[in-house]
Amino acid sequence: MKILVVGGGGREHTVIRKLRENPSVTEIFALPGNGGIAADAVCVPIGAKDIPAIRDFAVENAVDYAVVTPDDPLVLGCVDALEEAGIPCFGPRADAAIIEGSKVFSKALMSRYGIPTARFESFDALGDALAYLETAPLPTVIKADGLALGKGVIIAQTREEAVEAVTEMMRDGKFGRSGERVVIEEYLEGPEVSVLAFTDGKSLVPMVSSMDHKRALDGDQGLNTGGMGTIAPNPYYTADMEARCMEEIFLPTVRAMNAEGRPFKGCLYFGLMLTKDGPKVIEYNCRFGDPETQVVLPLLESDLLTVMRAVTEERLAEVEVRFSGRHACCVILASEGYPEHYEKGFALDIPEAVRAQVYVAGASLRDGQLVTSGGRVVGCTAVADTLADAVRDAYAVADQVHFANRFCRRDIGARALAVKEG
Ligand code: AMP
Ligand code: GLY
Repeated sequence: MKILVVGGGGREHTVIRKLRENPSVTEIFALPGNGGIAADAVCVPIGAKDIPAIRDFAVENAVDYAVVTPDDPLVLGCVDALEEAGIPCFGPRADAAIIEGSKVFSKALMSRYGIPTARFESFDALGDALAYLETAPLPTVIKADGLALGKGVIIAQTREEAVEAVTEMMRDGKFGRSGERVVIEEYLEGPEVSVLAFTDGKSLVPMVSSMDHKRALDGDQGLNTGGMGTIAPNPYYTADMEARCMEEIFLPTVRAMNAEGRPFKGCLYFGLMLTKDGPKVIEYNCRFGDPETQVVLPLLESDLLTVMRAVTEERLAEVEVRFSGRHACCVILASEGYPEHYEKGFALDIPEAVRAQVYVAGASLRDGQLVTSGGRVVGCTAVADTLADAVRDAYAVADQVHFANRFCRRDIGARALAVKEG
């Protein structure tokens, strides 16, 4: 089978490695892939948002199956275009990807179907938003409606900060069209859990839970990033909590999307806050998380391609989706200055002995040598019988990967370990 994977980050590298475990896979094309992915797939320089070029490439190369993982192409209708060209795909169509593509849509969906989430108001006029902020409880959370590279969420501690955030989004176009509408919502407290789930619109199978570390610096300080590291499973997410989330959140979401005539097929990501009033949805993503995938898929014992095709063919209930009972940790090595300004083009050295544990996110090939090309450069993953060992081993891998201006958090997994011990 010839497979096409759209995207080029650490998440896609992880997906590609896992797909290669299936012996029927003869060739994988990554569009665009990256310098590290090139060791595991044929990288083709077509951007993940160039839908007509992706479709033409898939048709010309007689691709048998396509996996679309990033948010942009999903929201832009990449799956729709490939399916129209006769290529079966893993990933939601645009009408379902809107669950991530519009926060106004997803909040309205939750309120219509009684799915627990933070109380909110949506605004499409600046004056109305500013009037609301005069009496909104603090802190308050401002969210741009559309995709904003993970930067469209502002937690405002003061009224001035809130006014500034809303004004930048709605008047100054800080996030372009994504910020023309905003959601202003209640600030929630509690541990956060990420749950990825396979769903074919008929049934839903949650994957092992995980914990992201979104802030740039140790102790959850510094700016929000795409994620500086992950562990799985998440110790806050007990079996009781999973059962509750299934009944109160996961299945109601699948039913709600069906009722709206927007059946969701693919990987649905639930960003949850376990508040004292129960689990609540902070966000939906229409795709695998990055770097959640780097800890979740290494724990998947079942064949990924088999599960994905079952989702496409709406027979997920017929296949086994089994996870090992072990633990995983992923430590991101980033370029100093990320998520703001950073330099690129430094030689990246990944010793052969640890290559299988390193997923490359931001590197390109220059004369056969890997050089850094992104903020998040690699994710170093280890799987072990205990979380403590997985954390230790992931750092041992990270310590062997070298490039100039490298930085990482040194406390990935520390909070989860404290829960376990406490
Ligand atoms: P998001 O891009 O929606 O994942 O939001 C980024 C981060 O902002 C989340 O991971 C949370 O830590 C935080 N966040 C989002 N919404 C809320 C909320 N209603 N209350 C508290 N924190 C939030
Ligand atoms: N790590 C969070 C995300 O993928 O959105």
